[in-house]
Amino acid sequence: MALVVSRLAQPAVPLLFAAALVSAAQAEPGPAQRAVLAQQVEAARAVAPGFAPSAERGRTLFMSSPAAGKPDTPSCTSCHTTNLSRAGQSRAGKAIEPMAPSVVPTRLSDSATVEKWFRRNCPDVLGRDCSVAEKADLLAFLIGL
Ligand code: HEC
Repeated sequence: MALVVSRLAQPAVPLLFAAALVSAAQAEPGPAQRAVLAQQVEAARAVAPGFAPSAERGRTLFMSSPAAGKPDTPSCTSCHTTNLSRAGQSRAGKAIEPMAPSVVPTRLSDSATVEKWFRRNCPDVLGRDCSVAEKADLLAFLIGL
């Protein structure tokens, strides 16, 4: 019996190493995440024709500290941390699953969910809504993780 149990337990270790390797690399976004980004880019182009999303601008905004919203959330990283392959934490101490779709494949796969949280998180950090262009940039950055 003990032999069977230890055999079953063994594969967990290599799997953990594989997950670490995948999360370190830049991932190719899945179809659901690409569709969410495409919808946001379309919204941004309705305001600014020719708009092109920038993962770099998105990263800069996400990692910055606007500190213009609630005092306890100066940055997106206040809750999501700077390592988006790892779990974050709400101000109430509740775990937030990692943001990276390469780690949590359901991440950023539904426009309504994404929109709902932008509506809540942007004012917390920026003291205002994110613009459609900012949201497209943020998504371009996040879906590639
Ligand atoms: C007060 C803590 C907090 C801050 C600050 C915060 N978030 Fe979040 N965020 C959450 C929580 C909680 C959720 C919902 C739970 C979950 O998705 O695991 C969430 C969800 C999201 C989602 C939805 C993810 C999905 O899979 O659909 C996005 C996108 C997001 N946040 C982006 C941001 C951005 C961009 C910022 C900075 C402007 C930010 N968050 C700041 C707590 C925070």
